[in-house]
Amino acid sequence: MKTPSAGTPISPFALLRAFMPFGGKGTLQAAMQDQLNVTWCGLSGSGTSAIYATLLALRKHSDKTEIILPAYTAPSLILPIRKAGLTPVLCDISPETLNSGSKEILPYVGSNTLGIMPVHMFGLPTDVPEMNRQLKNEPIFTIEDAASAMGAEIDNIPVATQSDVGVYSFNRGKNLSTFTGGAVMTNREDLIQDINTEINAFPTPDFKYALKIRTFSVALSLVVHPFWYSLLLPFASKFKYTSLHTDFHTWSYTPYQSRLGLKLIRKLETFTQKRANNANFLIQALSDIDGIKLPTVLANSRPAYNQFPILLPDETTRETVHQAILKTGLEATLLYPDPIHRLYSDIWDGQGTDPFPNATTISKRILLIPVHPLVPKRALERAVEAIAQTLKTI
Ligand SMILES: Cc1ncc(COP(=O)(O)O)c(C=O)c1O
Repeated sequence: MKTPSAGTPISPFALLRAFMPFGGKGTLQAAMQDQLNVTWCGLSGSGTSAIYATLLALRKHSDKTEIILPAYTAPSLILPIRKAGLTPVLCDISPETLNSGSKEILPYVGSNTLGIMPVHMFGLPTDVPEMNRQLKNEPIFTIEDAASAMGAEIDNIPVATQSDVGVYSFNRGKNLSTFTGGAVMTNREDLIQDINTEINAFPTPDFKYALKIRTFSVALSLVVHPFWYSLLLPFASKFKYTSLHTDFHTWSYTPYQSRLGLKLIRKLETFTQKRANNANFLIQALSDIDGIKLPTVLANSRPAYNQFPILLPDETTRETVHQAILKTGLEATLLYPDPIHRLYSDIWDGQGTDPFPNATTISKRILLIPVHPLVPKRALERAVEAIAQTLKTI
């Protein structure tokens, strides 16, 4: 049996409801506003386009052009920044938290900073309240990227709701998936209209793409289960991302996805708890094994582990351990194999000292273990055994 790296349990009932355009109470937008206690939530066809709409809106509020973000995160984040006519400014990460926190981000703030974009990597919260406290008197926006962190909290408040703007993703690898999609949240009355205008300008998906969303969301509801994933793996693997994206779509979020999302958001707490149980099992089982380092979790925070990151001593050991886990059937992954500055030669030409050494080192040492709600406990136990055995023999 093979267990996929990511998965949202989508019941046949939720799918059936999504296919029925009429009836049913409430909207995803209202449910998110209510559940997250946020003034306004807008929905978009992807997390990337939600960020893009946000940046276009923020441009109307300032002439500044720089956005500060971690060198180690989703490389696709460069695309909406550049498409909005802005300049990405990278900063390093902490090798302890695997995030860029106030210590890493704030030294880069300058006279041309439009905003900072802290990212809650893998669902591990970064210290956004501290950044906001320090920037309180500055005309600088905080755009919280919680694409992988839906369900996480800092001081009992959901991430993505404590800054000027926050974003979640509903992509297929995320904590709640409607195949694609993104949400943008703000409590700032002066930003709502501008972001909403940008999102509403996105075109409705054409027939082909709308059909793809429906077909793939049904397929996704099956392949998250180890039985179906094992059966359909040769087919499913054709749809995995393998190359660096050079552009992104700006389709709007569909009513079908909203109906599906509404069913799923009600389960967010259950799913987050299952992720936490799986992660806690790994923390207990792995913390005494020599050669493994676990991430430091921010105090007063509740992670919503998208996947569970572990650090191995070096790239060769990581590869050996990765192969050993894969042999057990659990699909551990190497996300992201390279930091952003090593992918874009116009950001760093590769000459001289590496400007973001922690980002580079972590990208070579990190291994992600699936902890989504459909990972069987036995799969985690087997993976732990494989890790322990492999490290003993190295
Ligand atoms: C940290 C982060 N930000 C933004 C995104 C973009 O989200 P989407 O895939 O919905 O466009 C991703 C997706 O992988 C991500 O991991």
